[in-house]
Amino acid sequence: MTDNKLQYASMRSIGAYIPEKILTNADFEKMVDTSDEWIVKRTGIKERHIAKDNEYTSDMAVKASEIAIQRAGLENSDIDLVICATVTPDYFNMPSTACIISAKLGIKNVQAFDVSAACSGFVYGLSIAKAFIESGMKKNVLVIGAEKFSSIVDYSDRSTCILFGDGAGAAVISVTDDKNEAIIDIHASADGSYADFLMTPAPGSVNPASCEVIEQGLQYVKMKGNETFKLAVKTLTKDVKEILKKNKIAVEDIDFFVPHQANYRIIKAVGDSLKMSPEQTVKTVHKYGNTSAASIPMAINDIYEEGKLKYGDTMLLDTFGGGLTWASAILPFAGK
Ligand code: UT7
Repeated sequence: MTDNKLQYASMRSIGAYIPEKILTNADFEKMVDTSDEWIVKRTGIKERHIAKDNEYTSDMAVKASEIAIQRAGLENSDIDLVICATVTPDYFNMPSTACIISAKLGIKNVQAFDVSAACSGFVYGLSIAKAFIESGMKKNVLVIGAEKFSSIVDYSDRSTCILFGDGAGAAVISVTDDKNEAIIDIHASADGSYADFLMTPAPGSVNPASCEVIEQGLQYVKMKGNETFKLAVKTLTKDVKEILKKNKIAVEDIDFFVPHQANYRIIKAVGDSLKMSPEQTVKTVHKYGNTSAASIPMAINDIYEEGKLKYGDTMLLDTFGGGLTWASAILPFAGK
């Protein structure tokens, strides 16, 4: 990038795919010792969507991507980098889900890789796309957040099973020379000393697949929910305040606050501390649950399809997840 020929990265489109099947709180009342009242009061979740047995992370990602590419006015062949943020890949070691998505979309001979940053994966992906585009290496990057979280959920563990859902979202991040369309800033951070707050202990080099691993249920997501909750509120509140201050952007300048949809109480606590109004705050957790890396792009897609999100609207994204990882971003929507 030279001073006389600046190039910026902009979010040119958004798309999402939500699986048909719905699991309601009433369904969970029949499966574990829980109640609709507890789930709604503690999380804000009423229902979540679950993929079919033969519907994989890459399938949902492909459907979201096709919509995003078409809305960007591009052909699949215009994409020169595919990034898939997921912790529920089609295969745990290789190939990457991004490679499978590229093949299903007929995108050939371009770089494709997965990002493993749990719920923060989509915003991590945005930061990578921004860097590739600003450096002049790529022009149209497909950034996907896709999860078949139901594949790692223990449906006998009431403390986690009620929280998660499946789905996918995708955005096309393109080069632009118009500074008004540019992604303004992205903060992405991690602290691995809290790794055990949210993890799937197997399969991996620590616990390779074995009968014992399966018997102990180590393949399922484990979460220290309350500890994660407290750290999420504290970290996100600090992080979003810092990114706004650094960029001299006032809360009133944000058209849409799009937080990760893990728990409505986290969304409300962070939103309240910023004095963000309910009209500014995007909420989908009641209908999709926590869809991890897919949660933010699915939420952006919702306000786009409702006709609320318009070209030039400023969004503030924030997210927190396993790793632990967290990230925030300020960007205008540059889609038509
Ligand atoms: O997306 C990545 C980041 N993830 C998050 O940020 C999630 C953060 N954590 C949370 O959202 C909340 O901590 C949960 C929703 C997971 C749990 O809510 P909580 O208010 O922190 O509850 P808790 O874990 O402190 O549990 C309180 C009680 C316990 O019973 P006792 O020990 O007080 O008798 C649990 O056993 O609630 C019980 N409990 C349930 N009761 C009914 C836990 N899950 C359930 C349930 N139904 N599904």
